[in-house]
Amino acid sequence: MPLLEAATEWYGQRYGLQLDPACEALTLIGAQEGLGHALMAVADVGDAILMTSVAYPSYFGAVQVAGLVPVYMPLGPDFLPLLDALPEADLARAKVMLLNYPNNPTSAVATTAFFQRAVDLCRQHGILLIHDNPYVDLVFGDEPSPSPLCLPGGRDCVLELFSFAKSFHLGGFRLGFALGNRHAISSLEALKAPLDFNQYKGIMRMGVTCLKLPHEVARRDALVWQRRAAAMVAALKEAGYEASMPVAGMYLWLKLPDGVDDVSFCQRLVAQSGVALSPGQGFGPGGRGYVRVALVQPEEVLATCAAKIIAAMGQA
Ligand SMILES: Cc1ncc(COP(=O)(O)O)c(C=O)c1O
Repeated sequence: MPLLEAATEWYGQRYGLQLDPACEALTLIGAQEGLGHALMAVADVGDAILMTSVAYPSYFGAVQVAGLVPVYMPLGPDFLPLLDALPEADLARAKVMLLNYPNNPTSAVATTAFFQRAVDLCRQHGILLIHDNPYVDLVFGDEPSPSPLCLPGGRDCVLELFSFAKSFHLGGFRLGFALGNRHAISSLEALKAPLDFNQYKGIMRMGVTCLKLPHEVARRDALVWQRRAAAMVAALKEAGYEASMPVAGMYLWLKLPDGVDDVSFCQRLVAQSGVALSPGQGFGPGGRGYVRVALVQPEEVLATCAAKIIAAMGQA
């Protein structure tokens, strides 16, 4: 299939690993669809899944629909799981480890060394590492975002999900692809076979065209997110809030003053000023007391929003 040939070629050019489009790649109707079905395809009801307590909201629903038991990995200050602190018992019972870097909502990024440790642990314990990677192109530096699939042992235990939503602004067209472990791909393919007929061919052709675009196109867009993040961070700092500059992504993850409820804060902020933020607990139990800023406005608008957010924190 041309989309899968283009996807494996794209991955090979970027990460130096040539995958087989016939059995190590699969078209998805978006990464979200892929994850929901992958969990059902590779795990059984009652199996444990290692995940983070702050995550893209659909993960929690997908885990529930698949009947899996979430086991939250402790997070370090950089929002990466402390892999070496995972109890043996959790590693022994887990069927899947779910990661997402660059991360939604924290914009945290993972290093190659972190992914290598995750791959080694998963291989050792017979765990499938699912890396949801829709923000792969939204890194601000020149180096490509690390991918666990191309690391030694990755092909044995990694399923990586990619999307056209962020890199190519095609969220509504519902297109993505999975790459990785052939057993996971074939289980997902078998589960999807009676459920969908793939995405419409015209949309898949558009995907092929996107994957063949020069990398500078996505790079140019990443720099827009970087400029917006810098403008917002500068405006927050000017208003007296110590925000740190992310190195990827389209979000800022802000800690509210101690004791402030994130849902009430967001409700009051939008009612008083029209600035809409996402309350942290929408991203799981670990998000309590935080808010997510989506940098989906021009720099000058973001700067005015920063002042309103900080004023509301002062009233909280
Ligand atoms: C972490 C993460 N995964 C998946 C998605 C959805 O991707 P898609 O539109 O390809 O289903 C998003 C969109 O916000 C996301 O942040």
